Order: sequence, then C-alpha cells, then structure tokens
Amino acid sequence: MFSKLLACLSLAITASAVATNITPPASRGLPFNPASVVDLSGTTTDTDTIVSTAQTIDQKSGPNGAPDQPIPPTDVTAVDGQITTTGATNSTDVPTRRSISHRGPTRRSSPRAYELAFSGSGTGPNDRDASIHGTAFLTFTTVNNATYNIADCEAFCDEIDSCVFVNLFYEHNNPHLDAGTSNLICAAYADVHTAAEKTSFGGQQLAPLPAEKTFIQDSSGFSLTSLVDPATPEGYELIFGPINAAVNAPGYMGFAFLDRYDVQACAEQCNTRGADAQGGECQFFNIWRALVNGVPTTYTCAMYFIPTNASTADNFGQGNLLVTLSRGYQRINAVIDGGFEGFTACDEFCFAESDATWIGTSPPGGTLDATLFFFQPFAHNGNAVALLGSATAEDALAGTLTPAKPLNTLPGRQYSIGFFQSSSFSPPDEEAAAFVDVQWNGETIATIRPGFANFEFFQFTVTAKGQDTLSFHGGAAPAWSFLDDITVFEL
Ligand SMILES: *[C@@H]1O[C@H](CO)[C@@H](O)[C@H](O)[C@H]1NC(C)=O
Ligand SMILES: *[C@@H]1O[C@H](CO)[C@@H](O)[C@H](O)[C@H]1NC(C)=O
Ligand SMILES: *[C@@H]1O[C@H](CO)[C@@H](O)[C@H](O)[C@H]1NC(C)=O
Repeated sequence: MFSKLLACLSLAITASAVATNITPPASRGLPFNPASVVDLSGTTTDTDTIVSTAQTIDQKSGPNGAPDQPIPPTDVTAVDGQITTTGATNSTDVPTRRSISHRGPTRRSSPRAYELAFSGSGTGPNDRDASIHGTAFLTFTTVNNATYNIADCEAFCDEIDSCVFVNLFYEHNNPHLDAGTSNLICAAYADVHTAAEKTSFGGQQLAPLPAEKTFIQDSSGFSLTSLVDPATPEGYELIFGPINAAVNAPGYMGFAFLDRYDVQACAEQCNTRGADAQGGECQFFNIWRALVNGVPTTYTCAMYFIPTNASTADNFGQGNLLVTLSRGYQRINAVIDGGFEGFTACDEFCFAESDATWIGTSPPGGTLDATLFFFQPFAHNGNAVALLGSATAEDALAGTLTPAKPLNTLPGRQYSIGFFQSSSFSPPDEEAAAFVDVQWNGETIATIRPGFANFEFFQFTVTAKGQDTLSFHGGAAPAWSFLDDITVFEL
C-alpha cells in the first residue's frame, strides 16, 4: 500500500522533472552555471615572505631567572609574515625541581652519546666567556659544582625528549641560582649550537651592591652524536626528508614559524588551518630549519592543500639563508579516492552507479539517483565527480553515495569531513530545493541546503567508532548536487 503510494508519488514527480526541459547530466547537458574549477595560479609558496620574516624574527634566548622552569609548549612566533611573539617569553610558573634521576635507575634504556661541540675558557681569575644565546632553548638547571660536571648535565638532557644540546657554564654573581649551592649552569636546547653563538656575556647587576655584575666562565657545548628522526604525527605519513631543500609548489596556504623543530606542532598548525575556499583543508606540510649566516634562526612550517613530494623541493635558500632539515608530511585521507579520479571508464564522457571504491544506490523505484561521472566540465578538480539526483531526470528521489569499504578510522578520534558541493546545473529556481545529508554510520549529522550554488567547500566534525561508514544522501532532480574532493582527516 505504502510502496504503491510512493510509486505514484515518484511518477508524478518524474513528470514534473521531465517537464523542466533541462537536458539532464546523463544526456550530456551542460551546467547552467559552469563548474568553478581549482585555479592554482598565484598559489605557489611565498618564499620571499618566509625569507624576509626569517631575517627579522628573533627566537633566540637562554637561561634567565630561576632554574628548573617547566619546558614551555612549542610557541608559534609568526603566522604568514606577522610576528606573533617577540623574543623569549618569561614563564611565571613556579619552578618545579626536576628529579635528576640520572642518579637513580630511571635513566633512559639507551643512554645517548654526546660529543664536544666547543670548549670553554677555563676558570682562571681573568678568564671570561659567554653562554649560548640561541634558538630552541628549553630550560636550565644547576648541577653540582664540586667538579665541572659534564655527566650530570648530559644526564639532564637525556631526560628531555627534545633535548639535543647542552651548554655548561659558570655564572658568577647571580643570586637567583639554586639557593646559592651551585653556580654551574646546564642549559638544554632542542637544536645544536656552535661557539659562534656564545654571545651572552652577563654584565647584569643581579645581586645588590657592592656585589659585582654577572660574568660567565668556562662555557662549553655538548651535542648528541646522532639526531633521532622525529616521530611521525598521527594522521600523517612522512613523504621525504631530511633534505636541504624546501618545497616550492602550488596549493600553498601560508606558513607559521615555530620556536623549535616540532613536527607535531606543525601538524597541529595544518590541522587547525582554516580551509582554502578552492582547495579545502590543509593536506601537506613542509617543516624546515633556516640557518642565517650558519646560525639556526627559525623553524618554518609551510602548509599546502595539495600533497606533494621531494620533486618540488628546489628551494635551497637565498642570500645568507640556508634551508636545512626539510621534511614533508602528507595528511592521510581516510576516504580512498575522494576525488573520484579512479573512475576512468572512458576518456571523455561516461557515468556509472559505482566503481571499485564508491557505490551509488537509488531508493526503490529510483533510477541512477547517485552516480559517478567522468566528464571534465562537471568536475571541481580533475575529470571525475559524483552526482546526487537522477542522472537521467527520471525521478526526483534522493540517492546515496558511499565508499565501498568502511573507513580506516581510529576509535575515539575526531575527524573532519570535507567536501565540495555544486548545485548550479539547473537554473536557480530548479536548484532551489538542492540538499545533501551528510551521514556518519547511517545517521544524518548535517544537512546542507545550498540552493543554487557553484562549488563550495563544506566541513563537519565527527567522532569515530573505528571502521566508520560515511555516506552522502541527497539530490532531487532537477535539483542536482555534484560532490567532489571528499576528505576525512583526523584532527
Ligand atoms: C618578563 O620579565 C620582566 C623582568 O623580569 C618583566 O618586567 C616583564 O613584565 C615580564 N614579562 C612578562 C610577559 O611576564
Ligand atoms: C659553587 O657554587 C656556589 C654558589 O654559587 C659558590 O659559592 C661556590 O664557590 C662554587 N664552587 C665552586 C667550586 O666553584
Ligand atoms: C612526486 O610526485 C609526482 C607528481 O605527482 C610524481 O610523478 C612522482 O613520481 C613523485 N615522485 C616521487 C619520488 O614520489
């Protein structure tokens, strides 16, 4: 009874769809408003802004105030050429004495080996030296000064995952150090420094007169003999690196400077970068270290909406700036072939209800209500695109498009669903009813009603159960919806 009613209803609607006189997509009609396509002109890496910002930024610092401050989180020091912080921030956290557990059994299972980077001046009455003023300063402590205590300083570094270098030196006349029990400072850095960066000579009046000003003696540096590769952030894969060249490629979304070489922090920049109107979400980042006159100066995190690889890394630096430690990471799309470019059943015009990775289904009585098209004039990007709404205009029923296999998602993680939608095939009146339900595990989590609209980006956030199903339900010919460049990225 109900299905009969539904059939009558759909017949009636079919008649009205046909009556619109619009040549449907399946008959190779052309969009009323031609599909806006991705235009990559002017989207190549803005190397000039990166280089000029690197020339003005000051991310260098060193020990200051009380020892044993907690390590601050990685700081973003510039975004797209705007400097967001200036120099070192002074933490107001209460000092928490780290347990110097190298004296106990909790030392790392594989102790790291260090080599002398530079040695100090000695401690004669007239010897004067300088401590490092450099990038990626983490924290400092004082070590027992009964000896020139290299071992305790290296052990301090061992306990800090990101530490790769320590600067050991005496600072005289500083009353803020460790309740006066030691004046031997051990400063930890997340980057390696050289004697050329010994530029902090003291000269501050920290103790009340008649005490003298601070001065530095016997400042030496020790660096790890081998740098470990950073862990690949969840939701990404390493594509290349480390190499001494940065990416120069289209799909560039902007950059951030970080106060240390932190791949995870760069991934977070990419994950939270606002979508590009024509390219969608950040899909790739290139992190690299800038040396200016041989000195570590900043850590660039450049973001792209088009994944790339080492073949586009041809920026070795310019002038006194050198690119080093460049790595590229691609965001993993949980949707396989979200751009439908795997649908290549012809080389000019064809359509189908499904291919190896996507399945289109029609409700009972419907015909071709969700389809894949190979036809460049319909696509946002490339040659192929998906269509919701009867491709032949035989009914006004909504179809459903879904990946052939559940998504490879991790339970409990948040994901961002992104896609481009166009409902500008029919004239505005006929497209007014366009809609798409975004479904996650069969439940509609959002419905878009874009009306008459060319390709626009939409984004929704969901929580995964693991092996989730994504589907798009919509279209009511002649209110067709085209979908392209579908992404599901972990947040
Ligand atoms: C940093 O420390 C200086 C002097 O110790 C103080 O004058 C300044 O207000 C501090 N800045 C911040 C942001 O706490
Ligand atoms: C160790 O540091 C304390 C505190 O600054 C200082 O009084 C003492 O002279 C230092 N000892 C040596 C051997 O340098
Ligand atoms: C880099 O990407 C280009 C274009 O997608 C591709 O042709 C090339 O094989 C890739 N190179 C490597 C080393 O993956």
